[in-house]
Amino acid sequence: MTVSPKLRLLKHWAGAAIFGVVPVLALAQSSTLPPAPAVAAAPATTLAVAAASAAPAPIAAADMAPRVRACTLCHGKEGRATPEGYFPRIAGKPAGYLANQLFNFRDGRRNYAPMSHLLETLSDAYLHEIAAYFAALELPYPPPPAPQAAPAQLAQGQRLVQHGDAARRLPACVQCHGSAMTGVAPAIPGLLGLPRDYLNSQLGAWQTGQRHAQAPDCMAEVARKLAPDEVSAISAWLAAQPVPAGGKPAAQLPAPLPLRCGGVALPVAEERGRT
Ligand code: HEC
Ligand code: HEC
Repeated sequence: MTVSPKLRLLKHWAGAAIFGVVPVLALAQSSTLPPAPAVAAAPATTLAVAAASAAPAPIAAADMAPRVRACTLCHGKEGRATPEGYFPRIAGKPAGYLANQLFNFRDGRRNYAPMSHLLETLSDAYLHEIAAYFAALELPYPPPPAPQAAPAQLAQGQRLVQHGDAARRLPACVQCHGSAMTGVAPAIPGLLGLPRDYLNSQLGAWQTGQRHAQAPDCMAEVARKLAPDEVSAISAWLAAQPVPAGGKPAAQLPAPLPLRCGGVALPVAEERGRT
């Protein structure tokens, strides 16, 4: 499965809108700069992602908000997105997961030019700070949109998410993403509160090798076992579920991970010959 032309257009448009309309994009990072430049005083049209100095003190949330204005132009006010659009929510996701994604975009494991461009000069330490800022935001989730698939397809999606398919050694999504599907600290994201288009696109990107996680890339292994109709069924079902418990990631999983996942420091069940 590949990203639909409609989706590609949407992503392209979003990037063009930001970089075309907004005149100044200030990406400042230098170990010689004083910390916390007065970004808040910059004109509203200035996109500023400015990094801290070499030995940064943690940046207070109030100081961080203006620095990440570039991010919230696409990701929605405070990074909360909307369930209808394409942009994924970032507020409240596990900090380790967000940091891993910022590394992935910066280092080319994920491809979305406007984001990679924005992050290319930023240090690991600063990306951790940005991740920690968004992870700590506690914002309510809107109710999900009405299901956009037939009941049989939704049932197929639910079955795969909750039970997988042992005959194909397809683990259940909940074995890693948590039984509430709100993710697991520190590095596994939730599966709820994401737009259907975004879910389809991400699973497709893993299948075609456009998205990678750190090795071993367990999600690539999982996604490649899914047929196109299964991807659609899963995305349709997930996108229609309400987000429980404020969407907070679980503190831990009840059982070890069924596969080892790069960048995720959680216990793994005895490895049983990967395919
Ligand atoms: C031009 C619009 C745009 C801007 C600006 C932008 N993003 Fe993104 N971001 C996106 C899109 C689109 C995606 C999904 C890309 C894909 O398809 O993989 C994304 C994905 C992400 C993800 C991964 C989310 C997930 O659930 O896996 C994170 C984290 C993120 N962005 C953080 C940021 C931060 C932090 C900034 C500011 C430094 C930022 N973004 C700026 C559009 C943008
Ligand atoms: C073996 C553990 C494991 C299993 C099983 C698993 N996942 Fe994941 N999933 C992960 C990890 C780890 C990540 C984060 C990858 C990264 O760092 O990019 C992830 C990320 C994702 C994302 C990206 C979320 C975002 O915000 O961009 C989606 C979508 C996803 N998984 C869907 C699924 C679905 C659907 C299933 C079941 C068919 C599933 N996963 C099964 C471990 C797993």
